[in-house]
Amino acid sequence: MAARGSVIRRFPEVAVEARAVLAALPDPVLVVDEQGMLRYANLAAEEFFDAGTTVLLGLPLAGLLPEDSPVFGLIDSVRRTGASVSEYGLMIDMPRIGPRTLAVQAAPMGDGSELVVVSLQGRSIADKIDRQLTHRNAARSVTAMASMLAHEVKNPLSGIRGAAQLLEENASQADRELTRLICDEADRICALVDRMDVFSDRRPLERAPVNIHEVLERVRRAAQSGFARNVRFIEEYDPSLPPVNGNRDLLIQTFLNLVKNAAEAAPSQGGEIQLATSYQHGVRMTVAGSDSRVHLPLMVTVTDNGDGIPEDIQPHLFDPFVSTKHNGTGLGLALVAKVIGDHGGVIEFDSQPRRTVFRVYLPVAPTAVITPLEKPS
Ligand SMILES: Nc1ncnc2c1ncn2[C@@H]1O[C@H](COP(=O)(O)OP(=O)(O)OP(=O)(O)O)[C@@H](O)[C@H]1O
Ligand SMILES: [Mg+2]
Repeated sequence: MAARGSVIRRFPEVAVEARAVLAALPDPVLVVDEQGMLRYANLAAEEFFDAGTTVLLGLPLAGLLPEDSPVFGLIDSVRRTGASVSEYGLMIDMPRIGPRTLAVQAAPMGDGSELVVVSLQGRSIADKIDRQLTHRNAARSVTAMASMLAHEVKNPLSGIRGAAQLLEENASQADRELTRLICDEADRICALVDRMDVFSDRRPLERAPVNIHEVLERVRRAAQSGFARNVRFIEEYDPSLPPVNGNRDLLIQTFLNLVKNAAEAAPSQGGEIQLATSYQHGVRMTVAGSDSRVHLPLMVTVTDNGDGIPEDIQPHLFDPFVSTKHNGTGLGLALVAKVIGDHGGVIEFDSQPRRTVFRVYLPVAPTAVITPLEKPS
C-alpha cells in the first residue's frame, strides 16, 4: 500500500470531471431524493435499466424496483443512521429487466442533504455467491469421501499392518526391510485418513465467544517458531473488535492453514505476511441455499507477497486434493472452507503476483452484537 501511495504522489494531479468518472464506472449508480425520485443515474445505470436519463430522472425508484424490495429498507436505514449499508446476495425481481442477484450499497450523499447514493453490483457478487456455493459443495463432497475412507480404508489397513508385523517376527534382515516399508506406508495412509476425519464430523459446532486476536497471536507464534521462521509478520488489528461466535480450536487450525500457505508462497528473501482484522459495518450476506441473511461483520485477512495462486487452480481452490506442492495433500483449504462454512461464515480470495489475500468473514458472538443497525431506533 505504502509503495502504491508514493507512486501516485510523484505525478501532478490531473483535473478529472466527476461525471466522467461516474460514467466510466461499470456498476450502476443512482441518487435518490427524499421523495424517492431518481435525481441522478450514471451511464451504467442507463444500460442496466435499459432507459436513458430523460426517462429515468422522471421516475420514482419504485418504478424500477418492486415495492417490497429490500433496497427501500436500506435507503431508510441510511436516512435513520446516517451510515452507509451494504447488502449482498439480494434477489431482486425488477419490472423492467427481470430477476437479478445483486449487491446493493447505499450511502448518504454527505452534503447535509437527504440524497442517498445507491450503487448496484451484479456480476461480481454473483461470482462471489457462486464461489460460496462451490466451497460448500466442495466441503460436502469431502464429507462423503471422509466417511467412506474411515470405513473402507482404515479397517483393512490395520489388518495389513498387523499381518506385516507378524511376518516381521520370522523374516530375514532383507525381508524385514520390506515389512517395515509396509508398516510405514500403512501409517502414512492412516495419518492422511485421520486428517480427513474432521470432515466426516457432522455434529454442530460447539461455539463460544472467541477473541480472534488471541487466536491470530497463537497462530503467528506457532508459525514463527516453525514453518514461517524467515517471514516478517505485519499485524494490523482493530483492538475494539467484538468476539467471534466460534470454536477456538478449529479457528486456530483454520488460520494456521492459511498462514502456512502464505508462508509457503512468500519469497524466501523478503517474505511478508500481513494479518489484519476489521469491523465491516452493515455487511450482510444471504447464505446460498437458505433464506436467512446473516450479519458477518468481522473480517480477518491473511495477505502474502508471494507469486500468487496459479490461475488454472483458482476455480477449484477449495476442492480437496487440489495442490501444486510436491508434498501437499491439498486438504488445507478444503478444511478451511468446511470450518468457515460450519461457522456460517464466508471465505474469498483475490490473487495477483506479490499480493494474495484471503478474506474470512465471521459472525459476532450473540452477546456482543451491538451495531448502529441493530440498535432500536
Ligand atoms: N497464499 C497462497 N499463494 C499461492 N498459492 C496458494 C496460496 N494458498 C493456496 N495456494 C495454492 O492452493 C493449493 C491448495 O492449497 P491447500 O492448502 O489446500 O493444499 P496444499 O497447501 O497444497 O497442501 P497441504 O495444505 O496439505 O500442505 C496450493 O497447493 C497452492 O497451489
Ligand atoms: Mg496448505
